[in-house]
Amino acid sequence: MAQIFPKAANRLPLVTALVAGLVVCGAVGFFWYYGAPEYTDVGYRPDQPVKYSHKVHAGNMAIDCRYCHTTVEWSSKANVPPTRTCMNCHSLVGQDLATLELVRSSWEENEPIEWIRIHDLGDYAYFNHAAHVRVGVGCIECHGNVAEMEIVQQVEPLSMGWCLDCHRSPDEYLRPPDQVTNMYWVKPDNHAEWVTAWKETMNINPPEDCSACHH
Ligand code: HEC
Ligand code: HEC
Ligand code: HEC
Ligand code: HEC
Ligand code: HEC
Repeated sequence: MAQIFPKAANRLPLVTALVAGLVVCGAVGFFWYYGAPEYTDVGYRPDQPVKYSHKVHAGNMAIDCRYCHTTVEWSSKANVPPTRTCMNCHSLVGQDLATLELVRSSWEENEPIEWIRIHDLGDYAYFNHAAHVRVGVGCIECHGNVAEMEIVQQVEPLSMGWCLDCHRSPDEYLRPPDQVTNMYWVKPDNHAEWVTAWKETMNINPPEDCSACHH
């Protein structure tokens, strides 16, 4: 057979395979390294500009999460409340307290308080609060018992493996949707039966395909 390609070209498939192999290993290594638990943000607990306490407000005073995080049930994003929400009470309570100075000046100057964001997925991963909250995945499953936190901290890795663990077997994480913000809800004895019926009614089927979370 006539030689169409120079001899070196015979090695081309091998080189291509090697390079491809290296790229894959490199990528796997990179993601394995950075995806490993110590590189997630579990325990991230920044000091906030105002010493706002969930333990005082959501715990002791038992203010429902949705009083402040108003969008969780209908939007993909959970919001952090505007200063107006704080002033509903703090225009009457604690007007003289130094700890509330920044809240007052934020209100008077119409400048939002610069809360430091704690939970933050990469832009390449899609997450929707409403889709979870509406079918009865409680805040506590992903954020821990926030009502007992003086300062909020991240308690779950928010990694792909973590998402998929629940998606593969969500049963023990489901509850009636009217209990999603209840940090002290306990599973009744008939939980297993309830879950079976609930999943059928709501047609609950958490996705495991890549395109569901990576558009
Ligand atoms: C009175 C208002 C208020 C209530 C009630 C409240 N929160 Fe918050 N929440 C805030 C504010 C303000 C922040 C931002 C400052 C901070 O992180 O502490 C916040 C932050 C958070 C964060 C971290 C957001 C981030 O940056 O990643 C989570 C999670 C959270 N809240 C969950 C809850 C849950 C769950 C409940 C109910 C048990 C709740 N909150 C009740 C006001 C509130
Ligand atoms: C439903 C009413 C209510 C709302 C809404 C509310 N607070 Fe409070 N807050 C209180 C009360 C009452 C206290 C005093 C509680 C205590 O000392 O046990 C308090 C205490 C505080 C303190 C501690 C003051 C001190 O030094 O003792 C801070 C800081 C604070 N709130 C910030 C906020 C911020 C920021 C928001 C909005 C995200 C907010 N609060 C929303 C009622 C409210
Ligand atoms: C299935 C897991 C899951 C559940 C259930 C869940 N969250 Fe989240 N939450 C997340 C993830 C993941 C993020 C980060 C989202 C991102 O970066 O886009 C987040 C972010 C937040 C933030 C920060 C939003 C911001 O833009 O700063 C708040 C506040 C919050 N969640 C409150 C709540 C409350 C309140 C509930 C219950 C009503 C709740 N979450 C239920 C997983 C969950
Ligand atoms: C504790 C359980 C739990 C965790 C953790 C969880 N999910 Fe889900 N997720 C569910 C359930 C249950 C559904 C099914 C909803 C349905 O079928 O209506 C769901 C549905 C979804 C959907 C399809 C609905 C939609 O929004 O389009 C996406 C996408 C999704 N989850 C992304 C994520 C991501 C990304 C994470 C991790 C950051 C995550 N989930 C963590 C329980 C969970
Ligand atoms: C249930 C949601 C979900 C599904 C399904 C999913 N991913 Fe992910 N993926 C995530 C989340 C969340 C992250 C981490 C985002 C972060 O760290 O901020 C991630 C991260 C990644 C990364 C970055 C490296 C890493 O491991 O952190 C790659 C690559 C990736 N996914 C590929 C895939 C592929 C390929 C599939 C299909 C086999 C898939 N994903 C299915 C949610 C999902």
